[in-house]
Amino acid sequence: MYEFVQIDPASHADEIAHVWWKAYDPHKPEKDTRKWLEEPQVVKTVFGAKTDGRLVAVVGLTKQLDNAIRGANLSFGGISGVATLPEHRRQRLVRGAFEQLFAYANQENIIYSALAPFDYPFYEKFGYAHAELRHRYTFHRRAIKPIKAPAGITFREYDPVQDAAGVMEVQRSMARFGSRVFQPLWKLQNTDTQHRYVLEQAGEIVGYVHFEFSEPAQWELNMKVNHTWFKYDHVLPALVDLVARFAEQAEEVQWTVGPEVPLEYYIKNPGHEKRTREGEMMVRVIKWREFCQQIRVPLFASEPVVIGLQDENCPWNNGVFQLTPVSGRLEVETTDKPAEIQFNAVQLSSAIGGLLTANRLLRLGALQCGPDAAERFTRIFPPDSYISYVGF
Ligand SMILES: CC(C)(COP(=O)(O)OP(=O)(O)OC[C@H]1O[C@@H](n2cnc3c(N)ncnc32)[C@H](O)[C@@H]1OP(=O)(O)O)[C@@H](O)C(=O)NCCC(=O)NCCS
Repeated sequence: MYEFVQIDPASHADEIAHVWWKAYDPHKPEKDTRKWLEEPQVVKTVFGAKTDGRLVAVVGLTKQLDNAIRGANLSFGGISGVATLPEHRRQRLVRGAFEQLFAYANQENIIYSALAPFDYPFYEKFGYAHAELRHRYTFHRRAIKPIKAPAGITFREYDPVQDAAGVMEVQRSMARFGSRVFQPLWKLQNTDTQHRYVLEQAGEIVGYVHFEFSEPAQWELNMKVNHTWFKYDHVLPALVDLVARFAEQAEEVQWTVGPEVPLEYYIKNPGHEKRTREGEMMVRVIKWREFCQQIRVPLFASEPVVIGLQDENCPWNNGVFQLTPVSGRLEVETTDKPAEIQFNAVQLSSAIGGLLTANRLLRLGALQCGPDAAERFTRIFPPDSYISYVGF
């Protein structure tokens, strides 16, 4: 028999780390996994299942407040460390833990939630939908066009003490592209300096890049580039120039960026590089009414729309609601009117998550409603203009 529990990660660190070790890192010593719980922001509370007094499944919840989602600073629950010991899998233990987690989040007024999935359909079962994209370019080092950094931009190694606040600002500026995930300040302050660079112009930090090298075969290094952050577009060529200098000593370069970064412009024969789409975070609303009341909506949204919501995991969201945009805010009230759009939880998450819109979902056959209702909903929830939150 299994018993579902909520436990404090500080007093159950060894038990939790044991489940994570078996599920994520069985090739490493168990003590390495224990370190995850020592990161300051990581897991605030854990839901899980026990049998014979032993913890066998866990789902971690992190409450975060550092975000800007549709113009509002929402109370936000990050899900991480989802794991079940192999011998106890497929017995709906994670499902049971999520049920408890959502009830707790509802009580604690946690409005929005995100997670980094290992598998999209698995988390769709809990109402989450894919909400962002990244691209990974893979190319030979000589494929980078020779490029000259604009005059006046210099670079130097990153100093976590001196530069963290400035780099945080650069990172936040990426939200202009709808970039969502950012690293919290504590992480920027507590990082090693290896292969992290800041770009400066007139004393201002205007760019940041991080890369690492790995050795797939003797004498051939591979270079991975992450965190391509630039405050202004003219900084990007300087950043590419910097990466190209380091790429001299690598064979292959793998560069992961948001889709808004036009990396193909800097590749000699675009089309010859390999570009793969990387999925990223999934999101869902935990408290629908509160979400509507707190967000900002565009001023060009002016007409109401009536929606029905059937949310199996968070049944307190169920109902038929009239959404009325008024001067950039959204009024939400339950109504007896017939729903013009009927959403399940995943459809709603897709329509508000920023990547797709109700209009597109309708055209893709993923939503059934009239085009006029989809248009009115899309005006309230247009694509991708604003979200950012701490990544984990
Ligand atoms: C993924 C994992 C956490 C699932 O745990 P579990 O306790 O077996 O999950 P549950 O039994 O509660 O499954 C919930 C639902 O997902 C389905 N499911 C279970 N494992 C799945 C998988 N690997 N892929 C897709 N669906 C899966 C189940 O059939 C069940 O569906 P249902 O409730 O509609 O019948 C577990 O296999 C694990 O620890 N894997 C390794 C670590 C990992 O990848 N964690 C996820 C990190 S994001």
